[in-house]
Amino acid sequence: MSATVVERLERYRADGLAEVEGWFEPESAEVMASLLVHQLELGLGGGVAEIGVHHGRSFLLLANGLAPGEPAVALDVFEHQEQNADHSGKGDRTRFEENLARWAPSASVSVVASSSLDVSVSSARDVFGRPRMFSVDGGHTAEITRHDLTLAEASVGDGGIVVLDDMLNGHWLGVLTGTAGYLLSDPGLVPFALSPNKLYLTDSPESAAGYTAHLRAALPDLLGKRDVEFFGTTIDVYGQGAPRHANGRPAGPVPEVRRARAAARRAKQEAADLSDELAAVRTSASWRATAPLRGLGRLVRRS
Ligand SMILES: C[S@@+](CC[C@H](N)C(=O)[O-])C[C@H]1O[C@@H](n2cnc3c(N)ncnc32)[C@H](O)[C@@H]1O
Repeated sequence: MSATVVERLERYRADGLAEVEGWFEPESAEVMASLLVHQLELGLGGGVAEIGVHHGRSFLLLANGLAPGEPAVALDVFEHQEQNADHSGKGDRTRFEENLARWAPSASVSVVASSSLDVSVSSARDVFGRPRMFSVDGGHTAEITRHDLTLAEASVGDGGIVVLDDMLNGHWLGVLTGTAGYLLSDPGLVPFALSPNKLYLTDSPESAAGYTAHLRAALPDLLGKRDVEFFGTTIDVYGQGAPRHANGRPAGPVPEVRRARAAARRAKQEAADLSDELAAVRTSASWRATAPLRGLGRLVRRS
Protein backbone atom coordinates (compact mmCIF):
# COMPACT_ATOMS: atom_id res chain seq x y z
CA MET A 1 0.00 0.00 0.00
CA SER A 2 1.35 3.37 -1.02
CA ALA A 3 2.67 5.57 1.81
CA THR A 4 1.48 8.55 -0.21
CA VAL A 5 -2.16 7.73 0.54
CA VAL A 6 -1.46 7.95 4.27
CA GLU A 7 0.47 11.21 3.81
CA ARG A 8 -2.27 12.72 1.63
CA LEU A 9 -4.98 11.80 4.13
CA GLU A 10 -2.96 13.31 6.98
CA ARG A 11 -2.34 16.51 5.04
CA TYR A 12 -6.03 16.91 4.14
CA ARG A 13 -7.10 16.26 7.75
CA ALA A 14 -4.48 18.69 9.09
CA ASP A 15 -4.97 21.56 6.62
CA GLY A 16 -7.84 20.91 4.19
CA LEU A 17 -10.61 20.29 6.72
CA ALA A 18 -10.00 23.72 8.22
CA GLU A 19 -10.38 25.42 4.85
CA VAL A 20 -13.18 23.56 3.06
CA GLU A 21 -16.62 24.64 4.19
CA GLY A 22 -19.19 21.99 5.07
CA TRP A 23 -20.23 19.45 7.66
CA PHE A 24 -17.66 16.83 8.58
CA GLU A 25 -16.27 16.38 12.08
CA PRO A 26 -12.47 15.89 12.44
CA GLU A 27 -12.97 12.76 14.56
CA SER A 28 -15.11 11.18 11.86
CA ALA A 29 -12.47 12.14 9.30
CA GLU A 30 -9.98 10.26 11.48
CA VAL A 31 -12.20 7.15 11.58
CA MET A 32 -12.86 7.24 7.83
CA ALA A 33 -9.18 7.79 7.00
CA SER A 34 -8.25 4.78 9.13
CA LEU A 35 -10.87 2.64 7.35
CA LEU A 36 -9.77 3.81 3.87
CA VAL A 37 -6.15 2.82 4.60
CA HIS A 38 -7.25 -0.49 6.15
CA GLN A 39 -9.26 -1.31 3.01
CA LEU A 40 -6.13 -0.86 0.87
CA GLU A 41 -4.21 -3.13 3.26
CA LEU A 42 -6.99 -5.73 2.76
CA GLY A 43 -6.50 -5.42 -1.01
CA LEU A 44 -9.91 -3.86 -1.68
CA GLY A 45 -10.34 -1.61 -4.72
CA GLY A 46 -13.22 0.00 -6.57
CA GLY A 47 -12.83 3.63 -5.55
CA VAL A 48 -15.20 5.88 -3.65
CA ALA A 49 -18.52 7.66 -4.17
CA GLU A 50 -20.63 10.28 -2.43
CA ILE A 51 -24.22 11.47 -2.72
CA GLY A 52 -24.42 15.07 -1.42
CA VAL A 53 -21.13 16.88 -1.93
CA HIS A 54 -21.81 20.58 -1.06
CA HIS A 55 -18.25 22.06 -1.35
CA GLY A 56 -16.49 18.70 -0.99
CA ARG A 57 -15.48 18.65 2.68
CA SER A 58 -16.06 14.91 3.19
CA PHE A 59 -15.67 13.95 -0.49
CA LEU A 60 -12.09 15.27 -0.51
CA LEU A 61 -11.13 12.93 2.31
CA LEU A 62 -12.48 10.03 0.23
CA ALA A 63 -10.60 11.29 -2.83
CA ASN A 64 -7.34 11.47 -0.88
CA GLY A 65 -7.80 7.82 0.13
CA LEU A 66 -7.72 6.55 -3.48
CA ALA A 67 -4.99 4.25 -4.72
CA PRO A 68 -3.58 5.09 -8.17
CA GLY A 69 -6.14 4.35 -10.91
CA GLU A 70 -9.15 4.08 -8.58
CA PRO A 71 -12.21 6.15 -9.61
CA ALA A 72 -14.34 8.55 -7.59
CA VAL A 73 -17.93 9.64 -8.21
CA ALA A 74 -19.43 12.85 -6.76
CA LEU A 75 -23.20 13.26 -7.19
CA ASP A 76 -25.13 16.38 -6.17
CA VAL A 77 -28.01 18.45 -7.53
CA PHE A 78 -25.50 21.38 -7.50
CA GLU A 79 -27.12 24.43 -9.16
CA HIS A 80 -30.53 22.71 -9.33
CA GLN A 81 -31.32 23.58 -5.74
CA GLU A 82 -35.06 23.39 -6.49
CA GLN A 83 -34.43 19.60 -6.32
CA ASN A 84 -32.94 19.93 -2.80
CA ALA A 85 -36.29 19.16 -1.13
CA ASP A 86 -35.28 19.75 2.50
CA HIS A 87 -32.60 22.45 1.86
CA SER A 88 -29.86 20.34 3.42
CA GLY A 89 -26.64 22.11 2.44
CA LYS A 90 -26.29 23.78 -0.97
CA GLY A 91 -24.17 22.11 -3.61
CA ASP A 92 -21.91 24.51 -5.53
CA ARG A 93 -20.08 22.91 -8.45
CA THR A 94 -17.64 25.79 -8.96
CA ARG A 95 -16.56 25.86 -5.31
CA PHE A 96 -16.40 22.06 -5.30
CA GLU A 97 -14.16 21.94 -8.38
CA GLU A 98 -11.90 24.69 -6.98
CA ASN A 99 -11.52 22.66 -3.77
CA LEU A 100 -10.89 19.51 -5.78
CA ALA A 101 -8.09 21.22 -7.73
CA ARG A 102 -6.57 22.50 -4.48
CA TRP A 103 -6.88 19.44 -2.23
CA ALA A 104 -7.08 16.36 -4.49
CA PRO A 105 -5.57 17.40 -7.84
CA SER A 106 -4.52 13.90 -8.86
CA ALA A 107 -7.86 12.18 -8.17
CA SER A 108 -9.83 10.88 -11.14
CA VAL A 109 -13.34 12.19 -10.38
CA SER A 110 -16.63 11.87 -12.28
CA VAL A 111 -18.98 14.66 -11.29
CA VAL A 112 -22.67 13.80 -11.71
CA ALA A 113 -25.08 16.76 -11.56
CA SER A 114 -28.35 15.02 -10.74
CA SER A 115 -30.80 14.22 -8.00
CA SER A 116 -30.18 10.81 -6.44
CA LEU A 117 -33.92 10.27 -6.87
CA ASP A 118 -33.26 10.07 -10.62
CA VAL A 119 -30.97 7.07 -10.04
CA SER A 120 -32.67 3.69 -9.67
CA VAL A 121 -31.40 0.58 -7.95
CA SER A 122 -31.03 -1.08 -11.36
CA SER A 123 -28.87 1.79 -12.68
CA ALA A 124 -26.89 2.39 -9.45
CA ARG A 125 -23.80 0.45 -10.58
CA ASP A 126 -23.76 2.30 -13.92
CA VAL A 127 -23.65 5.62 -12.04
CA PHE A 128 -21.49 4.79 -9.01
CA GLY A 129 -19.51 1.69 -10.07
CA ARG A 130 -18.59 -0.66 -7.18
CA PRO A 131 -16.98 1.73 -4.65
CA ARG A 132 -15.24 0.39 -1.57
CA MET A 133 -16.47 3.42 0.41
CA PHE A 134 -19.80 5.12 -0.31
CA SER A 135 -20.81 8.27 1.60
CA VAL A 136 -24.55 9.06 1.82
CA ASP A 137 -25.03 12.76 2.64
CA GLY A 138 -27.61 14.10 0.17
CA GLY A 139 -31.27 14.87 0.88
CA HIS A 140 -32.14 14.46 4.57
CA THR A 141 -35.81 13.40 4.32
CA ALA A 142 -36.89 9.89 5.35
CA GLU A 143 -37.78 9.03 1.75
CA ILE A 144 -34.47 10.20 0.26
CA THR A 145 -32.40 8.63 3.07
CA ARG A 146 -34.01 5.25 2.55
CA HIS A 147 -33.71 5.54 -1.24
CA ASP A 148 -30.02 6.54 -1.04
CA LEU A 149 -29.26 3.65 1.33
CA THR A 150 -30.73 1.23 -1.20
CA LEU A 151 -28.57 2.79 -3.97
CA ALA A 152 -25.50 2.42 -1.75
CA GLU A 153 -26.42 -1.17 -0.91
CA ALA A 154 -26.88 -1.99 -4.61
CA SER A 155 -23.55 -0.61 -5.72
CA VAL A 156 -21.04 -0.87 -2.86
CA GLY A 157 -18.26 -3.35 -3.64
CA ASP A 158 -17.82 -6.67 -1.81
CA GLY A 159 -16.62 -5.93 1.72
CA GLY A 160 -17.13 -2.20 1.16
CA ILE A 161 -18.41 0.42 3.59
CA VAL A 162 -21.40 2.77 3.47
CA VAL A 163 -21.12 5.90 5.65
CA LEU A 164 -24.42 7.65 6.45
CA ASP A 165 -24.46 11.26 7.68
CA ASP A 166 -26.64 12.86 10.38
CA MET A 167 -28.39 9.71 11.61
CA LEU A 168 -28.54 11.18 15.13
CA ASN A 169 -28.82 14.88 14.29
CA GLY A 170 -31.85 16.33 16.08
CA HIS A 171 -32.42 18.85 13.27
CA TRP A 172 -32.66 16.13 10.63
CA LEU A 173 -34.80 13.39 12.14
CA GLY A 174 -35.92 12.38 8.64
CA VAL A 175 -32.54 10.65 8.40
CA LEU A 176 -33.26 8.62 11.56
CA THR A 177 -36.76 7.83 10.27
CA GLY A 178 -35.47 6.70 6.87
CA THR A 179 -32.65 4.67 8.46
CA ALA A 180 -35.10 2.91 10.78
CA GLY A 181 -37.36 2.10 7.81
CA TYR A 182 -34.38 0.68 5.93
CA LEU A 183 -32.95 -1.31 8.85
CA LEU A 184 -36.34 -2.84 9.74
CA SER A 185 -37.00 -4.18 6.24
CA ASP A 186 -34.50 -7.00 5.67
CA PRO A 187 -31.54 -4.75 4.81
CA GLY A 188 -28.49 -5.90 2.89
CA LEU A 189 -26.21 -3.71 5.00
CA VAL A 190 -25.02 -4.38 8.57
CA PRO A 191 -24.21 -1.44 10.88
CA PHE A 192 -20.94 -1.70 12.83
CA ALA A 193 -19.93 1.72 14.19
CA LEU A 194 -21.02 5.27 14.95
CA SER A 195 -18.81 8.40 15.13
CA PRO A 196 -19.81 12.07 15.35
CA ASN A 197 -22.68 12.39 12.81
CA LYS A 198 -21.68 9.23 10.92
CA LEU A 199 -23.09 5.68 10.92
CA TYR A 200 -20.95 2.95 9.31
CA LEU A 201 -22.43 -0.10 7.59
CA THR A 202 -21.01 -2.93 5.50
CA ASP A 203 -22.29 -5.83 3.44
CA SER A 204 -21.95 -8.81 5.82
CA PRO A 205 -21.59 -9.69 9.51
CA GLU A 206 -18.07 -11.02 8.72
CA SER A 207 -16.96 -7.69 7.23
CA ALA A 208 -18.60 -5.87 10.14
CA ALA A 209 -16.59 -8.00 12.62
CA GLY A 210 -13.36 -7.30 10.68
CA TYR A 211 -13.89 -3.52 10.62
CA THR A 212 -14.90 -3.54 14.29
CA ALA A 213 -11.66 -5.32 15.23
CA HIS A 214 -9.61 -2.95 13.08
CA LEU A 215 -11.07 0.22 14.61
CA ARG A 216 -10.75 -1.10 18.18
CA ALA A 217 -7.04 -1.75 17.58
CA ALA A 218 -6.36 1.42 15.55
CA LEU A 219 -8.24 4.06 17.56
CA PRO A 220 -8.56 2.83 21.17
CA ASP A 221 -8.51 6.33 22.67
CA LEU A 222 -11.43 7.37 20.45
CA LEU A 223 -13.60 4.37 21.34
CA GLY A 224 -16.31 5.60 23.71
CA LYS A 225 -18.48 2.49 24.15
CA ARG A 226 -18.46 -1.06 22.75
CA ASP A 227 -21.33 -3.28 21.72
CA VAL A 228 -24.21 -0.80 21.87
CA GLU A 229 -27.52 -2.42 20.88
CA PHE A 230 -28.75 -1.17 17.51
CA PHE A 231 -31.49 -2.66 15.28
CA GLY A 232 -30.80 -6.34 15.95
CA THR A 233 -27.02 -6.07 16.14
CA THR A 234 -24.41 -4.18 18.17
CA ILE A 235 -22.16 -1.30 17.13
CA ASP A 236 -19.18 0.49 18.68
CA VAL A 237 -19.49 4.22 19.40
CA TYR A 238 -16.49 6.48 18.67
CA GLY A 239 -16.10 10.01 20.00
CA GLN A 240 -18.74 10.30 22.71
CA GLY A 241 -17.29 9.11 26.04
CA ALA A 242 -13.85 8.34 24.57
CA PRO A 243 -10.76 8.19 26.83
CA ARG A 244 -9.35 11.05 24.75
CA HIS A 245 -12.09 13.28 26.19
CA ALA A 246 -11.72 12.09 29.76
CA ASN A 247 -10.70 15.55 31.03
CA GLY A 248 -13.96 17.01 29.72
CA ARG A 249 -12.30 19.18 27.09
CA PRO A 250 -14.17 19.66 23.82
CA ALA A 251 -13.32 17.22 21.01
CA GLY A 252 -10.98 19.63 19.23
CA PRO A 253 -10.23 23.27 18.49
CA VAL A 254 -13.02 25.41 17.02
CA PRO A 255 -12.86 26.03 13.22
CA GLU A 256 -11.34 29.54 13.61
CA VAL A 257 -8.46 28.12 15.65
CA ARG A 258 -7.97 25.27 13.17
CA ARG A 259 -7.89 27.77 10.27
CA ALA A 260 -5.41 30.03 12.12
CA ARG A 261 -3.17 27.05 12.85
CA ALA A 262 -3.27 25.95 9.20
CA ALA A 263 -2.33 29.52 8.11
CA ALA A 264 0.52 29.57 10.64
CA ARG A 265 1.81 26.21 9.36
CA ARG A 266 1.77 27.53 5.79
CA ALA A 267 3.56 30.76 6.77
CA LYS A 268 6.23 28.75 8.61
CA GLN A 269 6.74 26.56 5.54
CA GLU A 270 7.04 29.63 3.26
CA ALA A 271 9.61 31.18 5.64
CA ALA A 272 11.60 27.92 5.62
CA ASP A 273 11.50 27.82 1.79
CA LEU A 274 12.71 31.45 1.57
CA SER A 275 15.50 30.75 3.99
CA ASP A 276 16.60 27.74 1.87
CA GLU A 277 16.58 29.93 -1.26
CA LEU A 278 18.66 32.61 0.49
CA ALA A 279 21.18 30.00 1.65
CA ALA A 280 21.43 28.72 -1.94
CA VAL A 281 22.08 32.27 -3.23
CA ARG A 282 24.73 32.84 -0.56
CA THR A 283 26.66 29.75 -1.58
CA SER A 284 26.41 30.62 -5.27
CA ALA A 285 29.42 31.84 -7.24
CA SER A 286 27.99 35.34 -7.84
CA TRP A 287 27.43 35.91 -4.11
CA ARG A 288 31.07 34.96 -3.43
CA ALA A 289 32.27 37.11 -6.33
CA THR A 290 30.57 40.24 -4.94
CA ALA A 291 31.81 39.65 -1.34
CA PRO A 292 34.66 42.27 -1.60
CA LEU A 293 32.19 44.94 -2.75
CA ARG A 294 29.80 44.17 0.13
CA GLY A 295 32.77 44.35 2.59
CA LEU A 296 33.70 47.75 1.13
CA GLY A 297 30.09 48.91 1.55
CA ARG A 298 30.15 47.92 5.25
CA LEU A 299 33.40 49.89 5.77
CA VAL A 300 31.91 52.99 4.08
CA ARG A 301 28.73 52.76 6.24
CA ARG A 302 30.79 52.49 9.45
CA SER A 303 32.98 55.48 8.57
C1 LIG B 1 -25.41 18.33 4.02
S1 LIG B 1 -24.92 18.73 2.43
C2 LIG B 1 -23.55 17.70 2.13
C3 LIG B 1 -22.37 18.00 3.00
C4 LIG B 1 -21.04 17.50 2.47
N1 LIG B 1 -21.00 16.06 2.35
C5 LIG B 1 -19.90 17.99 3.33
O1 LIG B 1 -18.95 17.24 3.55
O2 LIG B 1 -19.92 19.16 3.75
C6 LIG B 1 -26.16 18.01 1.45
C7 LIG B 1 -25.91 18.12 -0.05
O3 LIG B 1 -26.86 17.27 -0.71
C8 LIG B 1 -27.33 17.90 -1.87
N2 LIG B 1 -28.63 17.31 -2.14
C9 LIG B 1 -29.83 17.55 -1.54
N3 LIG B 1 -30.79 16.76 -2.03
C10 LIG B 1 -30.20 15.99 -2.99
C11 LIG B 1 -30.67 14.97 -3.87
N4 LIG B 1 -31.94 14.57 -3.88
N5 LIG B 1 -29.78 14.41 -4.73
C12 LIG B 1 -28.47 14.79 -4.73
N6 LIG B 1 -27.98 15.74 -3.92
C13 LIG B 1 -28.83 16.34 -3.06
C14 LIG B 1 -27.31 19.40 -1.55
O4 LIG B 1 -27.18 20.18 -2.72
C15 LIG B 1 -26.08 19.50 -0.64
O5 LIG B 1 -24.94 19.85 -1.38
